[in-house]
This record gives sequence, C-alpha cells and structure tokens, in this order.
Amino acid sequence: MEQSIPQTMHQAIIKPDLSVDFESDAPIPQLKDDEILVRAVFAGVNPIDWKGANEEQSVALHGLLKSPVHRAPGKDYVGYVVAVGKEAYQFHIGDRVMCVNHSSGFAEYSVGKTFASAITPGTVSFEDALTFGLPYLTASLLAFKDKPLPTPWNPANGNTRTPFIVYGASSSVGAFVVKLAKLANIHPIIAIAGSSAESIKSVINPSKGDVIVDYRQEEDALIRAVHQVANDAHYAADAIGSPKTGELCARLVNPHDSIVTSSVGDPWDDTLKDRVPPGVQLQIAFSPGVFEPNDPDGPDGEDSPNHGRKAFGLTAMNYLSYALQNGILAPHPYEVRANGVDALAEALLALKEGRNKGKRYLLEMGATKW
Ligand SMILES: NC(=O)c1ccc[n+]([C@@H]2O[C@H](COP(=O)([O-])OP(=O)(O)OC[C@H]3O[C@@H](n4cnc5c(N)ncnc54)[C@H](OP(=O)(O)O)[C@@H]3O)[C@@H](O)[C@H]2O)c1
Repeated sequence: MEQSIPQTMHQAIIKPDLSVDFESDAPIPQLKDDEILVRAVFAGVNPIDWKGANEEQSVALHGLLKSPVHRAPGKDYVGYVVAVGKEAYQFHIGDRVMCVNHSSGFAEYSVGKTFASAITPGTVSFEDALTFGLPYLTASLLAFKDKPLPTPWNPANGNTRTPFIVYGASSSVGAFVVKLAKLANIHPIIAIAGSSAESIKSVINPSKGDVIVDYRQEEDALIRAVHQVANDAHYAADAIGSPKTGELCARLVNPHDSIVTSSVGDPWDDTLKDRVPPGVQLQIAFSPGVFEPNDPDGPDGEDSPNHGRKAFGLTAMNYLSYALQNGILAPHPYEVRANGVDALAEALLALKEGRNKGKRYLLEMGATKW
C-alpha cells in the first residue's frame, strides 16, 4: 500500500573533509518487508555523522564501522509514514514516527526499521520526539544491555540500593541514561556532568541519594567525590566513550563483579582491558547492533530466537511510544538550526568543536532549498 511517492529525491552527502554535496536525483530507498518509508520532516545531527564521514576518525573507528552502511550519515529522523512493508504490522500510512537507522536521514525520504522506529503521539512535537532518536536507543543499550538490572518496563520495587554511575550525564546519550535509570527506580544515580549539568538537575532525585558530580575537577578529587556517595557501585555507563573515560569509570566502580559500558565515542583501545581491574568487565553499547542484526555486537546473530538485538530495539521503541503518550520521559534540549539541511556542514563543524553544549541539533527539511 503506497501513497504517491516521487521517483527521485534530494539528499545530502557528507564528504571526508566534512563539506556537503547535494544530490537532486537520488533514488527513493527500496522498502524491505520489515521497513517503513518515511517522508522526513526533521533530521537529527549526531557525532557519528562527522566521525563516520571524516576519514581519520572512521578509519580509527573501523573495528566497529565494518560495514560501509555504518558510515552513512543521518541516523535519526521524524516524519510521516508514506509506505509500509508487508511485515510492518504496527505502522500505517500517515502515522507520525521517529526512526533510527543507517539510511540517509539527510534526505527527503528515509527508510525506518520496524524495530528501531517509534510511533509519535500527536501530543508530542516532531522536534521533541526527534531529540530521542539515536541517543535514546544508545542510552537504552548503555543502561540495560547484558545487565541484571531493573528496567523502566520492569522497575525495582521499593528502596533497593543499586548505585549507578553515569559519566557524561549532560550529553544527549547520558541524559537519557539518567532518565531511564530513574524510571527503572535505580538509585542512587551518580550523574557526572560539567557546564550543562543544569539540564539534568530537575531529573535526578536527591531524596533517593542521586547526586551530580562535576567532571572538570582533578581526577583523584572526582574519584573521592564519587566514592563518598558510593564505593560499592557495580555499574557505570560511560556516555562519552573514550578510552580515557572508560578507564576512569573502571576506577569509579567496585573492582569486583562490576560492568562498565561504553558508548565508544572515540576509537576503542584494545589494551584498555589490561589497565582495568580483572573484576571489571568492559562492554560496548553500539546502536547499529540493533539495526544490523549481524553486527558483531549482536548476541547470537540473525539466527537466534531474538534475531540479534531486534527484540531489544522493539521493546525500547515501544516503551518510548508509551512514555511519550503518558508524558513520563522528557525530551532533550535542542536547537533547530537555520536553513535546514543547507546548514548541515556548519552543524557538523559545531558538533565536532563541542559547541552544542548539552543540546541536540535538528534540521528542518521544509527550510532546505537544496
Ligand atoms: N555507540 C553508539 O551507538 C553511539 C551512538 C550515539 C553516540 N555515541 C557517542 O556517544 C558520545 C555522546 O554522544 P551525544 O550525542 O550524547 O553527544 P553530545 O550530546 O554532543 O554531548 C555533548 C556533551 O558531552 C559532555 N562531555 C564532553 N566531553 C566530556 C568529557 N570528557 N567528560 C564528561 N562529559 C563530557 C559535555 O557536557 P558539559 O557541557 O556538561 O560539559 C557536552 O555538553 C559521543 O562520543 C558519540 O560519538 C555512540
């Protein structure tokens, strides 16, 4: 079942020097059975868009970006469903959706995977919905993947103490980890943030022991500050994901039976495991592991009963629709950049230079002259 869809579309291509080319006759993506075709209204800009395109960074991240599709820019977008695949039972033409995927998000039409797309209720603006996107999916993995922890859809009862460290808690990814942990009733949350800490002040719950610790202090002082609140934390989510922050998180958790999960924002350092206590397990949360079931990050690949991480993505996205409908998950701060996708190169540079400071950048398709 399809609406009238043009043969070709406009799309932006990011070049290795981070300049942007525009195509006016790109083919409309082909739909698979478990996909939906979306006419994009806004596209989000993520660090991977410059890291994946930039030659130096993408080569360095090669261990994870094995498939060329991982490097395709434009990982999240919102818009209207214009066609549904044969197995996309949950979705209907005209639905408002938020999708996370490889396929060109900086384009007029994009494909969404059913298990990485969320129906967006009419009460929530497209802009607010898009602030979730890739950071929300990554945050869900960082918080809950391969960990015996309560979840927002199966929260802890009462006042069980489960200290949880979130490094980079004011980043888009980190802030969603904090919000999801709170909905799972995981406390105390030790949120480590800097100049944008204000944005998560209203999220944490000091009456349950949650605190914000400033990462800009000297490292030993930071470790002392965290250990004063909890020297028994067994879980840390490193939303920044550099080898340095991973190593620091490994010093923050209990040296026995602990897990540090990294967002691998920077090239992974294989020697890291030799520098952390043997009782600290290092894990990686990699969103493409959800929409690429054969990704090395998937548990058992396409043939497993859950088809890699498909079921994880489906659960996280359905929960997001529920949470948006019920107003229990607040969006991240955002800025709609002027001139839509025309300003993509500027937005990439601003992101690379860290000028977004606790905000997501969104591009409006309708404001683009192409
Ligand atoms: N694995 C995946 O699938 C995946 C997916 C998405 C993102 N990522 C990675 O995850 C990281 C976060 O992405 P994002 O979109 O959330 O970024 P973001 O929103 O742009 O994060 C910016 C914020 O990070 C904080 N920050 C920067 N450097 C820091 C440091 N050394 N220590 C603590 N906080 C620091 C700053 O907080 P203050 O302003 O408070 O100082 C800054 O405002 C990136 O490295 C990205 O590449 C990975």
